This record gives sequence, C-alpha cells and structure tokens, in this order.
Amino acid sequence: MYSEKVMAHFRNPQNVGEIPDASGVGEVGNVICGDILRVYIKVRDNVLEDVKFMTFGCAAAVASGSMTTVLAKGRTIEEALQITKKTVAEALGGLPPHKRHCSNLAADALRKAIEDWKHKEARTVS
Ligand code: FES
Repeated sequence: MYSEKVMAHFRNPQNVGEIPDASGVGEVGNVICGDILRVYIKVRDNVLEDVKFMTFGCAAAVASGSMTTVLAKGRTIEEALQITKKTVAEALGGLPPHKRHCSNLAADALRKAIEDWKHKEARTVS
C-alpha cells in the first residue's frame, strides 16, 4: 500500500520533537480521522534554521511530517511556502488515494507555523 519512501520515513522519522524556543508553531487536525500534527520552526535571517514535528497520526501522517521537515529545513520562508501537500506526497513517492489527506496535515501545519512566526514578527516590529 505504501511506497518505500513512506515506509522509510515511517520507520525512521526525521526531525521528531519540539523546539522549546520556537519562532512559530502550527497545529492542524483532521476532523474525519481525528489525527493531529504540530510543526515547530526556528527562523533566523528569513531562513528555517530548524523544523521539527510531532503527531498523533497514522503512518502516512508520520511520513508526511518527516518529509515536510526535511523539505523545509534550510529553506527561506518564501521557498518553504511553496511546499504543498502535492510536493510532500510526490517526494514520498505518492500516497494511496484514501491517505492523501494525511499529507495535508503536515503542509498546512508548516504554513500555520510560518503565519504564527509572521504575526510574532509583526508584533515585535510595531
Ligand atoms: Fe488521519 Fe492519516 S488517517 S492523518
């Protein structure tokens, strides 16, 4: 059912955990399955210096969270905003149709974390 890449990221997920002094945090839940995924980002000079995730989710959610952090780490904010559920699913070698929503969690949580960072930045500047 799952590609080798999905299985590799599920068995050995990258960047799992929290960033205690995160610049931004984004959390997304899926109303259908009830799974939750949270992304933490550390931003320095407009670059995602560190990205971590935690999830109460299925194998596809774990693999998607892992792949999203790998794709986002070291990218500029603008580059990270280009990461979509499609990017994540393709990087994982595809997801079964009934598991595509799982890749939404990670991509959306990353976007929310960046929004959170932007709001904090705006408050700091003003
Ligand atoms: Fe809910 Fe995969 S089944 S995130």
